[in-house]
Amino acid sequence: MTTTTPVPGHEALEMVSATIDGVEVEVPKGTLIIRAAEQLGIHIPRFCDHPLLKPAGACRQCLVEVATPDREGNVRPMPKPQASCTMEVTPGMEVKTQLTSEVADKAQHGIMEFLLINHPLDCPVCDKGGECPLQNQAMSNGRATSRFIDIKRTFPKPIKVSTEILLDRDRCILCQRCTRFSAEIAGDPFIALQGRGGGSPAYEVHGLHGSQIGTFDENVLQFEDTGESEVAVIAPDLSGPGGEPGLTAGLAAGPVGVAERDASGRTFASYFSGNTIQICPVGALTSATYRFRSRPFDLVSTPSIAEHDASGAAIRVDMRRGVVMRRLAGEDAEVNEEWITDKDRFAFPWQDAADRLTMPMVRDEESGELVETSWSEALDIAARGIRTAQEAGGLAALPGGRLTVEDAYAWSKFARLALQTNDVDYRARMHSDEEAAFLGAHVANAGLGVTFTDLEYAPEVLLVALEAEEEVGNAFLRLRKGVLAGRVHVSTVAPYLSRGSKKLSADLHPAAPGTETEVVDAIHDGSSHEELNRLAGRLSAPGAIIAVGERAAGIPGLLSAVVRLAERTGARLVWIPRRAGERAAIDAGLLPGLLPGGRPADSAEARVDVASVWGCEALPDQEGRDLTQILMALATGELAGALVGGLDLDDLPDPVLAERALAAAFVVQLEVRRSEVTPLAQVVLPVAPPVEKAGTFINWEGRYRAFGQVRTSRNLSDRQVLAELAAELGHDLGVDTLPIVHAQVSELADWSGQTPQFAAHAQGELPHASGTDAVLASWRMMLDCASLQEGEPHLAGTAHRPVARIGLELAAELGVQDGDQLTVSGPAGSVTLPVALTEMPHHVVWLPQHSPGCSIYRDLGVSAGDVVSLAGKEVTR
Ligand code: SF4
Ligand code: FES
Repeated sequence: MTTTTPVPGHEALEMVSATIDGVEVEVPKGTLIIRAAEQLGIHIPRFCDHPLLKPAGACRQCLVEVATPDREGNVRPMPKPQASCTMEVTPGMEVKTQLTSEVADKAQHGIMEFLLINHPLDCPVCDKGGECPLQNQAMSNGRATSRFIDIKRTFPKPIKVSTEILLDRDRCILCQRCTRFSAEIAGDPFIALQGRGGGSPAYEVHGLHGSQIGTFDENVLQFEDTGESEVAVIAPDLSGPGGEPGLTAGLAAGPVGVAERDASGRTFASYFSGNTIQICPVGALTSATYRFRSRPFDLVSTPSIAEHDASGAAIRVDMRRGVVMRRLAGEDAEVNEEWITDKDRFAFPWQDAADRLTMPMVRDEESGELVETSWSEALDIAARGIRTAQEAGGLAALPGGRLTVEDAYAWSKFARLALQTNDVDYRARMHSDEEAAFLGAHVANAGLGVTFTDLEYAPEVLLVALEAEEEVGNAFLRLRKGVLAGRVHVSTVAPYLSRGSKKLSADLHPAAPGTETEVVDAIHDGSSHEELNRLAGRLSAPGAIIAVGERAAGIPGLLSAVVRLAERTGARLVWIPRRAGERAAIDAGLLPGLLPGGRPADSAEARVDVASVWGCEALPDQEGRDLTQILMALATGELAGALVGGLDLDDLPDPVLAERALAAAFVVQLEVRRSEVTPLAQVVLPVAPPVEKAGTFINWEGRYRAFGQVRTSRNLSDRQVLAELAAELGHDLGVDTLPIVHAQVSELADWSGQTPQFAAHAQGELPHASGTDAVLASWRMMLDCASLQEGEPHLAGTAHRPVARIGLELAAELGVQDGDQLTVSGPAGSVTLPVALTEMPHHVVWLPQHSPGCSIYRDLGVSAGDVVSLAGKEVTR
């Protein structure tokens, strides 16, 4: 029977009725039998089925008996059991699972026996033991004893698919979850099923073992049994998808260029490879980090939120005796679905690094060294220093961009109440006045705006100064999902079509650094560029989105141009930053011109309103300085001190100025680990990392992502430390508990007075390069030299290898080819990297912003958009 049920906001769904184990069920047309059974609480055993992957029917473990009505309405059973994960429910269908059908039960037992024939049954030494679907279902749907008496198939193992992922082929049941994830979700050639049709002449090498899981990496693929225990490096002529000649990068055959290798020298695999470990239903895929380190029943699991980017991805933190052993993806259909980046999964050792700060430290007046001391003495010395600095010119607050809502709020309140200043800027990165005004007018207190789901369903998404795969991995995955479903079209304004943009099938609108503003302004009806004309039309469609990244701050006039474009086309505008704490910092007013709740700091009415909530007489009314102005004022002695947290100097546009400024000032540092700021600080106050405190991030959507404390700790959060320091200075910060903070934050979010205004800024002067000069384009890679990735060498090995990208014409002028060396020089020095020839505008060079061997601010003394000089050097081949 077929009925139609309207669902609010969606097209009416056509419903179909069937019975499963004699119980009637009504489901939307197209629902798989296995999903319909779940709705009735009937669990059909499965391995290859995964709700976020396309059906494969690979393992056959989900066999059920199916009968369907014929044309006359007579219900006729199918001759053989059917895979319930590939068959859709049809009207009148009668399904019998293992619960009511001996045939289904026997079929499932038979499949399980086949799966276990060559399986090593090494559960006691397998990482998956204790949480393994194969182990569990062997107990529920398998035989008590094995009838198999022959020698089991063996393989050299483990195979290093990458420096992080290891493969034990003997445990693999060829469910193809890993390969489908790589192809359907991440779009990477990380892992593939090879040697299919084993035994036929074209596959004679593979034929020794039939089809197997492998990769396209010539250092990994190894189907030939050499009889040696070591995995031999095989000739590259077996690395094609069918064992035929030809390496591959991506899923197409061809030579692997230098830009397509990872830091370990392998073909670059994926930023999302760890997800395959989690969805592998056996222990065939394991991580180098976690392998043999713990058992599931030793672990205490706590849900949390990843701190590495602005996605706010749900994670699960698994600890053993107080030590974090691993992190897994949590499930959140609205946000990360079931996927996280490898950075979210593997980059957690930073929290337990040997340079963790656990005791307060003060600078000894005689030796000049930092010495550990008690909290009371450290707070006392910090308070005395702050008072002195206040009299000598004042202090600024530089809290960094990794704060929770609660900590950001405490920083904002401390700056205004205890330091009596608007000299506060959380932006530990490139920044501008234009950006501050944009954030105040378009982001502060904006609440939930464009969402992950909106990205997945938008007819057009224009990316401006944003490389989604590198900068916000989960947004990239959701965009790709929409693209593969045929719903989303992506366009990008960038210097070249990056690997991530290619995987989004994006249209490139090429822009040399500095010209992005012109390109965005040229997107309008009647544009002389036909493609930009069409893009304007697509952006005018309901649901279209313009996503602009934080790098737009470095391009004068660009944020003004995207605001104009959004007004022109009606597209929704969303600002997507990199760091987890950006949105919370903006809502808390950690910008010089902003107070909590999106109030302008130059509004007397707004200051009075905040003061009434805070129970103080007045808030400072002087105009605040931004980060660069603060550093300059500190360097000249105009400001006498600074309270600093979460600041990595190499992330700042001028790290040398920052060093000079902090060396000249009275600095109190709140930090988790020693950093470059620590030797410059007079007082160092340790604070807790996310794993040791509860709090809330606000992700790029504007969604609150609360998390609890994972492990017990004596360390205090920023909020608690600031409350103690304020008390020492004679102020009651009033942030003693999270509920108290939440009450104040929600009271301050209610504001109907004046809001910050955004006035358009002009485009900057365009840089000009000729001869051997080039304009620098740059952005951060997902895996680079960031301090939160330290201590994880296996993950570091999977990073993209740093390269210098130039166009063919410039390469010819410089006399270099792909793989040759290019030296890029700026006022502070030079870096030399391998050349990656890339289709991009003439006289443009792209470098990674902060990768091993190339940190543009520190090593070159330049930012994106500046002119650098180039010198090529041929490599002897
Ligand atoms: Fe399935 Fe795991 Fe084998 Fe991949 S490695 S096919 S996920 S069993
Ligand atoms: Fe149905 Fe594998 S779960 S065939």
